[in-house]
Amino acid sequence: MKLEDIKTVGMAGAGSMGAGIAQIAAMAGLQVKVVDMSEEVWGRAKKTIVKSLERVVKKGTITEKEMEETIARISFSTDVASLKDVPFIFEAVFEDINVKKELFAKLDAVCGSDTIYATNTSSISITEMAALVKNPANFIGMHFFNPVPVMKLVEVIPALQTAPATKDLALDMAKKIGKTAITCKDTPGFVVNRLFVPYIIDAVRLLEEGVASAEDIDTAMKLGCNMPMGPLEFQDFAGVDIGYHVINIFHEYMKQERFAAPGLLRNMIKAGYVGRKAGRGFYDYSEEK
Ligand code: 3HC
Repeated sequence: MKLEDIKTVGMAGAGSMGAGIAQIAAMAGLQVKVVDMSEEVWGRAKKTIVKSLERVVKKGTITEKEMEETIARISFSTDVASLKDVPFIFEAVFEDINVKKELFAKLDAVCGSDTIYATNTSSISITEMAALVKNPANFIGMHFFNPVPVMKLVEVIPALQTAPATKDLALDMAKKIGKTAITCKDTPGFVVNRLFVPYIIDAVRLLEEGVASAEDIDTAMKLGCNMPMGPLEFQDFAGVDIGYHVINIFHEYMKQERFAAPGLLRNMIKAGYVGRKAGRGFYDYSEEK
């Protein structure tokens, strides 16, 4: 299959990553069929996409008419069967191998063996996931970064079973949807999270040890290293619960103490301090609600 043959892509999962991928694919002129079991999740995804596109219009990168056309290219369904005949399907459902397994079984039941599956997993082995589908040669990792419309990178990760043609197609697709790709081996964390997750964990440890306040840790990294967000601010933005889940998967794969989740994160989850979306994480956002 060649990139020119792909006019429609599928997006399984409409969380923040799925919404972002759907948006950039539609902005690149592709029809996008989004599938998520929950209509409530769609509602949120649609709002996120519109809000994000409004920012792009404000910047003058696209016109209002182009925004309307982009939105019109995205359709939503709860039925996996709507992805039948879609040649290229992105996957960004919950980071749990059993959830992914269930989804790919449903997809395999309706899609042909020439369908390309590109998973956005950040912490599960691509090779392990490829082994779940009927044609592992067409399975690949394409790992995007949050917020997807802004972050220019995608990591392209072939599984042991991935065909060279699938890798080439994923690289072409990354370029078409406006991303710069790097390729790497299927190892836990790939490149970015292998470096980023220990940094995030260490920031929580500094706070736990009372080395500095949350504000001072974040200010240190923003002003001392030019990070756009501090490590604790970032966790509030991405969701402390999601980060905690990813850290635990990493720890399970890496079996190294430096990947163990700090106790403070566990307690924050128990307290419901899961970040900006809950009104409280490392910082208090109750005034913003
Ligand atoms: N859609 C479209 N444009 C957006 C946007 C969105 N959702 N969010 C921000 N922007 C644009 C703004 O319009 C603005 O554009 P301009 O500079 O041309 O005017 C620009 O991005 C900056 O936005 P803001 O001025 O509103 O705010 P910030 O300067 O604080 O930027 C941020 C926001 C881009 C989120 C920035 O803080 C950032 O880069 N944070 C770090 C994000 C990061 O590290 N992501 C990677 C995490 S690792 C990961 O995702 C892996 C996964 O496995 C967990």
